[in-house]
Amino acid sequence: MARRQLHDAYFRQAKAEGYAARSAFKLKQIQDAKQLIRTGNRVLDLGCAPGAWLQVAAELVGPSGSVVGLDLQRVRIPLPPTVQPLVGDAWEIDPMLLLTAGTDKPAKFDVVLSDMAPNTTGHADSERSIQLCHQVLTLLPALLKPTGNLAMKVFEGALYRDLLDTTAMVFSYTRGYKPKASRDVSREMYIIAYGYTGGLGERREG
Ligand SMILES: C[S@@+](CC[C@H](N)C(=O)[O-])C[C@H]1O[C@@H](n2cnc3c(N)ncnc32)[C@H](O)[C@@H]1O
Repeated sequence: MARRQLHDAYFRQAKAEGYAARSAFKLKQIQDAKQLIRTGNRVLDLGCAPGAWLQVAAELVGPSGSVVGLDLQRVRIPLPPTVQPLVGDAWEIDPMLLLTAGTDKPAKFDVVLSDMAPNTTGHADSERSIQLCHQVLTLLPALLKPTGNLAMKVFEGALYRDLLDTTAMVFSYTRGYKPKASRDVSREMYIIAYGYTGGLGERREG
């Protein structure tokens, strides 16, 4: 199927199945290939609007799990009670707000997802995207449980390899992965990492 047709097919399928965006299929394909999320997990979804990954993550964790989202934009779709979408900026957020969302006691996450994309140009802006990913890594010590997993979007560019190497320093397995639903023309990739060993933090630019 031609690229454009495939894009349209995912768009139609998302609509038919009640997902907020076709990006739902990217997370489904990441999950099918990499099994990052388990039933009962507590999942954080950074850059969660319009909400398709929240919907897919909620299905994967089931009623015994929970999903917390963060985005600059408000999520406007109906979501199950296990999902708490917050409005905020990943550069400014107090981790405690995320840890306490939907629970009485602060609880770290089993899985951190980031589908954040810089909205500076509207195009794949590799440098800003890589900075956002480093910000995700900076937040991990406060947010991710030891042995936890990570999937984060990045637009490939000169600094991609360095980002992959930095991620690999604190996970036992780290690879780049491009789901089929991610258009071939875009430099969009996902860094998939399992088995957080702790560490990193500090770095701040952006
Ligand atoms: C491609 S969309 C995410 C789509 C989402 N995964 C879904 O399936 O509905 C990227 C999102 O990243 C968000 N974003 C970009 N920079 C951010 C930041 N600094 N903090 C929080 N969210 C951010 C944007 O507002 C945008 O909604």
